Amino acid sequence: MRTFIQIIYISRVNFEVKGGLNREVMRILTQARINNPPQNISGVLYFADGCFFQCLEGEQHIVEKLFQNIMQDSRHKKVKVLLRNKISKRMFESWPMKYVPVQDRVEKLLAANGFSTFNPYKFNQKMIDEMLEILSEAKDPTNNDTVKTPNIITRIIRHWSYRKRIIG
Ligand SMILES: Cc1cc2nc3c(=O)[nH]c(=O)nc-3n(C[C@H](O)[C@H](O)[C@H](O)COP(=O)(O)O)c2cc1C
Repeated sequence: MRTFIQIIYISRVNFEVKGGLNREVMRILTQARINNPPQNISGVLYFADGCFFQCLEGEQHIVEKLFQNIMQDSRHKKVKVLLRNKISKRMFESWPMKYVPVQDRVEKLLAANGFSTFNPYKFNQKMIDEMLEILSEAKDPTNNDTVKTPNIITRIIRHWSYRKRIIG
């Protein structure tokens, strides 16, 4: 029987960040949105104050394999797993990789817990749960037709990256 899991991890960037929607973060997001659908991986990515907070969901061995790659990615460091759960239902099922920008509800969560910056290394379980709830309810401003109904070029890239994975 297939086992689905959810991995939630945090990390710190290894590249220069100059506010706004960072180009490198957008590159990561694009990569995720091309690679994840053929592998039936879904999730969400949040980025603030130099820290990533990502949730990956899908079949156990596929998610674990992707996570091994992600851990070795030189664009970030200090990767720390916050949760690794078997799940029966995904939180981000329709999202190849949702992107949630810095926003009020997270700022309020931080302020309510005495944080002045986004430092998920100090989150307790309740904060992690609240963070996930916020991310599941938030809007993704980067979501457009390319994500949900890929155009022909995106489809071709997906096809070949999938073949590369399967055939080598
Ligand atoms: C914070 C972060 C999140 C990432 N998330 C994903 C992801 O969801 N899917 C993915 O394929 N690659 C993701 N990557 C990129 C992977 O580490 C790796 O570069 C990529 O899977 C290699 O894909 P390629 O074989 O198409 O070059 C992420 C990287 C970082 C730093």
